[in-house]
Amino acid sequence: MKILLIGQGYVGTTMAVVLANAGHEVTGLDIDHDKIASLQKGKLYFYEPGVQKMLDKQLEANRLQFTTDARQAVVNNDILFITVGTPSLSNGNADLTYIKNAAKMIGQYKNKKKIIVVKSTVPVGTTEKVKDWVMEAGEDTAPVEVAMNPEFLREGNALQDALYPDRIVIGSHSDEALETIHQLYQQWNCPFIKTTPRGAEMIKYASNGFLATKISFINEIAMLCDKLEVNVRDVSKGMGLDKRIGPSFLEAGLGYGGSCFPKDIKEFLWTANTNQIPLSILSKVEQVNHHQPDYLLDKVKKQVGSLTGKNVAVLGLAFKPHTDDTRESVSIPIIQQLLEEKAIVTVHDPVVNLEANWIEKGVLQNNDPYQVIKESDAIIICTNWPQYEALDWKKVRKIVRHPAIFDGRNMLNAEQLSELRFHYEGIGYP
Ligand code: UDX
Repeated sequence: MKILLIGQGYVGTTMAVVLANAGHEVTGLDIDHDKIASLQKGKLYFYEPGVQKMLDKQLEANRLQFTTDARQAVVNNDILFITVGTPSLSNGNADLTYIKNAAKMIGQYKNKKKIIVVKSTVPVGTTEKVKDWVMEAGEDTAPVEVAMNPEFLREGNALQDALYPDRIVIGSHSDEALETIHQLYQQWNCPFIKTTPRGAEMIKYASNGFLATKISFINEIAMLCDKLEVNVRDVSKGMGLDKRIGPSFLEAGLGYGGSCFPKDIKEFLWTANTNQIPLSILSKVEQVNHHQPDYLLDKVKKQVGSLTGKNVAVLGLAFKPHTDDTRESVSIPIIQQLLEEKAIVTVHDPVVNLEANWIEKGVLQNNDPYQVIKESDAIIICTNWPQYEALDWKKVRKIVRHPAIFDGRNMLNAEQLSELRFHYEGIGYP
C-alpha cells in the first residue's frame, strides 16, 4: 500500500520505518527542511534504539522516502496518516493547530478519494472534525474517510512497541477505512479492536490515565511505606503478581514525566470538566505526581540541612532512561528548587546536554559522573540510567564530602550502600 505520514517526530518516523519494513511504499512528510534533509541522508535526528538500523535498511530497499513537497506527497498517496504533535496550551487543553494545518493541507492538494488516519493523540471528537476541515479546505469533492488509530509507543522503546504492540485500535465510521487499516497491519500478530473514532480517542486517554494512576497510587503507598518501614519494592512485587493488577507501572519514585502523560492527563481532565464529569481520581493522580520532587527534596534537607552553598550532584536529566527527551522531566523542578535554595548544582546525563538557560543560571555539567559526584554533599538520582547502578560506589564513597544518596528511582542496592556507610534513601523505604 502507498502510505504517507504527515509529521516526522519520533512517532511519525518510527511508524514510517516500521510500515516500510512491512513491505509498504512509505513517504514521510514534514515542513521542517532540516529534519527531512537529515532523514533523506539516512540520519535519524533523535535517539531511539534500533530505528537507525531499520531506517538504513528501508532506504536501501527503496521502500521509504522523505519529502517537504506536500502537494506531491498528498497526490501520490491514498492512505494519509497524521502524526503531528498536539502540545498543551497554557489552559491544559491540546493545541490542535498542527492537526488543523495537516487537514487543510490535505484538503488543498487532494485530487481523489483518500483515507485519513489520525495517529496523534487528539481530544475525543477531533477525528470526526478532521473530515470537515479537509473538505472545507479545497475544491475537490471526492470523499474522504477518516479513522483514528492511536499510538502506544514509549520513547526509548518505540521500535519494539511498534513491531509488537499489545493491541491495535482502529476507530472509524467507515467499514472501508476499518478494513483497509486492518489490512495494512496484516503482518501484526495481536488483537485488533475496532470501534468508533471517539472510542479510539477515549481508549488512548483512558490508557494513559490509568497507567499514570498506577504510578501515583504506588507513590502514595510508598510514602506510607516510608512511615511504616515497609519496602515498597516488595509491595509492588507482591501486588504485581496478581494477574488482575499486573507488574508494570508500579515502580515508586519521583513520578512520571515526558511528552505524553503530563499533557494527556491535563487534556483529559479539561475535557471531563467541560463535560461536567470531573475525573476526581485522575485529578488526584496529577496532584500526587506534582508533589513527588518536593517529597524527595524534603528528605535531602532533613539529612543535609540548609542547601545554601552545598554541592548537590544530580544524576540524570532525561525524563526516563534510553531517551534524550527532557520534556516534563522531574529533573527540571528538582534543579529549579535546588537553585532557589542556593545549592551548587552539578549534573550528569549520558545523552542529554544541559540547555543554555541552565548554564546561565550557574548549573554545571560534566560527562564524567565521578567528577560530578566529587566533593558533593548529596547525590540525587533523577533518571534510572543503568550506568548509575554500575558506578563504583566504593570509589564514590572516597570522593564525596558527605556520603548521602537520595535515589529518586529506587534503583540502587540499599544494603550494599549502607554497608559502605552511605546515608541512603529512596522513596518507600528501599
Ligand atoms: C507513554 C506511554 O507509555 C505510551 O503508551 C504513550 O504512547 C506515550 O506515553 P513514555 O512517555 O515514552 O510513554 O514513557 P513511559 O515509559 O510510559 O514512562 C512515563 C513516565 O512514567 C516516565 O517518567 C517514567 O519514569 C515514569 N514511570 C513509569 C514511573 O515513575 N514508574 C513506573 O512504574 C513506570
